[in-house]
Amino acid sequence: MTILTRRDFVASTVAVGLALTGRRGRGRSRLADSHIDVLVDEPIGTIAPEIYGHFVEHLGGVVYDGVWVGEKSRIPNIGGIRRALVEALRAIHPAVVRWPGGCFADSYDWHDGIGPRERRPRRTNFWIDDPHFQPLGNVAAKYDPNEFGTNEFMRFCRLIGGQPYLAVNLRTLPARSFMEWVEYCNSPAGSTTLAEQRALAGAADREPFGVRYWGIGNESWGCGGNFTPEEYAAEYRRFATWAVPSYGVKLAFVGSGPSGGDLEWTRRFFREMAERRSFDRLWGWALHHYCSAPNGEAVAFDDTAWYDLLGSANRMESLITSHWQVMGETDRDRRVKLVVDEWGAWHKMTTNVDPTHLFGQQSTIRDALVAGLTLDTFNRHADKVAMANIAQLINCIQSLFLAHDDKFLLTPTYHVFAMYAAHQGARAVRIVPSASPVTWTDGQKQERSLWGLNGSASLANGTLTLTVTNPHLTEPRETEIAVRGRAVRSARATTLGARDVHDHNTFEAPRTVMPTAAQDVSATGSAFVYRFPAASVTKLELTVGS
Ligand code: AHR
Repeated sequence: MTILTRRDFVASTVAVGLALTGRRGRGRSRLADSHIDVLVDEPIGTIAPEIYGHFVEHLGGVVYDGVWVGEKSRIPNIGGIRRALVEALRAIHPAVVRWPGGCFADSYDWHDGIGPRERRPRRTNFWIDDPHFQPLGNVAAKYDPNEFGTNEFMRFCRLIGGQPYLAVNLRTLPARSFMEWVEYCNSPAGSTTLAEQRALAGAADREPFGVRYWGIGNESWGCGGNFTPEEYAAEYRRFATWAVPSYGVKLAFVGSGPSGGDLEWTRRFFREMAERRSFDRLWGWALHHYCSAPNGEAVAFDDTAWYDLLGSANRMESLITSHWQVMGETDRDRRVKLVVDEWGAWHKMTTNVDPTHLFGQQSTIRDALVAGLTLDTFNRHADKVAMANIAQLINCIQSLFLAHDDKFLLTPTYHVFAMYAAHQGARAVRIVPSASPVTWTDGQKQERSLWGLNGSASLANGTLTLTVTNPHLTEPRETEIAVRGRAVRSARATTLGARDVHDHNTFEAPRTVMPTAAQDVSATGSAFVYRFPAASVTKLELTVGS
C-alpha cells in the first residue's frame, strides 16, 4: 500500500511552475524528466459538450433516495427533486442525461409514469432478482412507484440545464409505443391527446420537450433481448425508420452497440445497416465499458489494484479506435459517431452508503484518475465521440454524488467533472506527452505498463485548457510543457490529489478529497516546467496570445 505522508502531499501539490523564458521550444529542458508538447495548430475537432453527460437509471438508490425525494419530503427539494443535487449539477454544466436505463429501460412502460402521481401503478423493478438484493427481503427499492416519470425527468433536465436522452424499450414494447412517447414529448401544445396529457403536469409542460436523443434499446446483445446483430438490426430499423414523426426536431437515434471489445457486434450490425442503406437513421452507436480491478474493492485496494484499474480504464482508447475503424468499413461517409453511454469504474458492493443502493460504492482518488483519463481520451477523440454518459449519476457505480435521506456529498469524480468543464464546446488540439511508462505485475502475474503521463488540451476564447493525469503512485513528474504556435501569458493550476490514496468523502467528512483552489503558476513564453504530483489529476488554464 502507498500512503503519502502529509508532507509529501503538500510538497507534491504546491503549484510549481518555472518559466523557460527566451526559449522558443526547440530543445528540451534539463530540469524536466517528462515533456508535453501542445500542438495548438493541430485541431482534432470540437469537444461535444454532451461528452460530459450523465446517466440515471431506476436502479437501487439512483432515482428514489438519489434524485427524487418527493415534494412533501423534509429534505430540501424543488418539486420533489433533491435541491442539493440540482445546485451541484448546475455548477458543472451537465449537457445531457440518459434515462430511465440501462437494462431497466427495456422493461419500462413510459405510460406508467405519467398523469396524477397518486394514480400511477407500482411495478416490479427490473433489478428485483439481483443477488445483492436477496438478503434484504421485500424492500421498497425492488419496486417502482413511478413517481418519477417523463414529466419529472424533463423538469430535472430543465433545472440542471441538460438535454434529455431517452432510452427506448425495444424488448417488451412495440414500436408504436415508442412513436407515442415521441408524440407525448414532442408534439406541439394542444395538437394531440398526448400533448394535452403532457400539459396536465403544469404550465411548463405545455410546450413540447423537444427531445432529440433517443436510444433504441439497451445492450440488445444481453438484457435488452439477447439478439444477434442481424436480428437487432431488423428491430432497430423498424423502430427508427423514417416514419417516426419529427415535429421539427432533428431526431438523433442511437443504436445499442457492443459490450467492450465485441467488434463482431459492430461489424455485423453495420453491414446490415449498409445493406439497407439505413445510416441516415443512425446518429450514434453506443459503446459500454466498465473498468474493474481483480480484488474489486472500492477503498481497500493495494498498489496492484491501483494500476490494474487504471490499465482497465485506459482500454477506452483502443475500444474507441477499434470500433471506429470497423464502423468505417461500411459507413464510409462517417455519418455515425460513437456514444459511450455507459462508462465508469465498477467495484464490489462493500462500501455503499445504504444496503438498498444496488451497485453503490465509495470513490477515491483512484476513481478520479479513471474519470480524468477517460474524459481526456474522449477529448482526444473529439472527432469520433459525440456523447458519453458516466454510470451513474448518484448512488451507483462511479457516481458524482452519494446521498441517503438528507445526507449528500460530492465524490472525487464530481471534482474532475468540475475541473474538466472548461473543455466543453472547446476545440480539442493534439498533445504529445512523453514520460517514462509505469510498469507493474498485474493480478494475473502478467507484466503490464501504462503511459507515464497523459491528458488532453483544448482552446476556447484565448484560454488553452490542459488536463493531465499522473498515474504513478509515488513519483511526481517534472514536466516541460511546450505550447507550439502560441505564447503563454499566464497560467493557473488546479490539482486533485489525496493525502492517502484510500481517502474518500463521507457524510461525516465530505471534504476529505477536494481539489486545490486555482493557483498562479510562473509560465510565460512558449515553454515552462510544471511538476505533476503523484497520483493526481491536474488542470492548467493557460492564457495564450497568437
Ligand atoms: O449501469 C448498470 C447496468 O450496466 C445497466 O443497466 C446496463 O446497461 C449495464 O449492464
